[in-house]
Amino acid sequence: MAFSYPKAGEVPAAQFQPEYAGSLNHLVDGEVRAWGGKAEPVESCVMLRPEGGGAPARHRIGRLPQMDEAASLAALDAAVRAWDRGRGRWPTMPVKGRIDAVRQFAKRMVEKRAECVRLLMWEIGKTLKDSEKEFDRTVEYIEGTVQALKELDRTGNRFSIDGGIAAMIRRSPLGVTLCLGPFNYPLNETFTTLIPAIIMGNPVVMKLPRYGALCTLPLLEAFRDCFPRGVVNTVSGDGPTTAGTVQRTGKVDVLAFIGSSRAADILKHGHPAPHRLRSVLGLGAKNPAFVMPDADLDLAAAEGLVGALSFNGQRCTALKHFLVHRSIADAFVAKLAAGVSALKVALPWEDGAKITPLPEHGKAEKLWGYVEDAVKNGAKVVNPGGGEREGTWFRPAVVFPVVKGAQLWSTEQFGPVVPVSVYDRDEELFDYVVESPYGQQASIFGRDAKKVGPLVDVLVNQLCRVNLNAQCQRGPDSFPFTGRKDSAEGTLSISDALRVFSIRAMVAVKEGGEQIVSDMLMQRTSNFVRTDFLF
Ligand code: G3H
Repeated sequence: MAFSYPKAGEVPAAQFQPEYAGSLNHLVDGEVRAWGGKAEPVESCVMLRPEGGGAPARHRIGRLPQMDEAASLAALDAAVRAWDRGRGRWPTMPVKGRIDAVRQFAKRMVEKRAECVRLLMWEIGKTLKDSEKEFDRTVEYIEGTVQALKELDRTGNRFSIDGGIAAMIRRSPLGVTLCLGPFNYPLNETFTTLIPAIIMGNPVVMKLPRYGALCTLPLLEAFRDCFPRGVVNTVSGDGPTTAGTVQRTGKVDVLAFIGSSRAADILKHGHPAPHRLRSVLGLGAKNPAFVMPDADLDLAAAEGLVGALSFNGQRCTALKHFLVHRSIADAFVAKLAAGVSALKVALPWEDGAKITPLPEHGKAEKLWGYVEDAVKNGAKVVNPGGGEREGTWFRPAVVFPVVKGAQLWSTEQFGPVVPVSVYDRDEELFDYVVESPYGQQASIFGRDAKKVGPLVDVLVNQLCRVNLNAQCQRGPDSFPFTGRKDSAEGTLSISDALRVFSIRAMVAVKEGGEQIVSDMLMQRTSNFVRTDFLF
């Protein structure tokens, strides 16, 4: 079946994304400014056939500022001024004021839903349904964050007394924060660090991802109007020139980064005093699925399919390797391959689309390289048409049996390639997780508690979430999302994130000296020392 390249006129009008007028905008120091310097075309992963004939080409949807060192430093300086060594309006504002501002922002954000969703869909090829889900989940995350902060604030509302000392302990902001989100969830994952950082009182420089930058731009006016000047600033362009330059100043207090561990290391080590830098990092993963001899194979194949190929496998939480017991390997592979063949390869707005074009340049060839390497090592592509590719399209490939030593055994493919390997002894599964450089999640498909139990006990010491007879995933967002080894630093549930972007500070008074505290409370002279609470 041929891949789809419509002409612009053939795209439903409601879904078509023309060149986005606001793509050169950025937000700095409370102003939305149009960038006049170097810019690069933003090309959708959707390829269109020119109206007048000719080869299909990526559809251009905007031009993104390629900001230089000076512009990056201007954004940083705005955030530094908003922090004002902890004396700025935002970091000293009562929690209620910050909550009201964030809620107001969420309200304004919802008004831009259609615009953001369409840009998200066109730029990274996420299906319309999933793009909408990403947007809505982000709005829910914001409200969840507000509720969690109220709860946190209530617990800080009293004095603890010990050893003749009374102390009021609350969480205070950390300072200037640099946020970088990934291309696969450019809105949601960026905002799961941005929003908690802001609401805790930290001014932010947000570096937009290389792919998936445009979906944030319709929100710049809302950021400008809802927060004091300099609290939110955006930069875009080359990572080393923008984020690297900002890091080298040593003025960043918190680094929130979701991407590769290689880039995270460069950013962290770019800071001249790394001990002063707090980091929260969401990095790579190669989550395995272990399919045991007594597994419900229909369930394992169904969960495996969604786990491996939602958004074309471009999720850090995706199942990126199946290790299947030899006794059921052929039966499992047949079911999985049938499921993959039934997935609709289609344009992101089309009904039922499951496999869509890939945003990263050269990705289809890279994925094919992994497949070829596995084939050289004795594997086959078992689903008909698997691995067919053209332009930004790549038909998912189930590759079996992948042996240790092949790239697909250990490399994170981050795309629609599904490696399946065979195991004989449970020991091999223990070895797999211990040898893996990653430590995010795993799935176990099996029914025998005597086998599953001991495996769980090893896995929880090597990674951070074990899914029983279910795919791996981040949600619900109230649960801890984290990892070990090369997979993460810090934890990002809704409530954990508030802790990540703050530090406990306290005001203490010795017994006998409580008058000053009473006066402060009565006269309401402090935003920190207070006992009023938020519903
Ligand atoms: O790319 C990593 C995402 O946080 C995964 O989230 O499991 O909800 O798709 P998800």
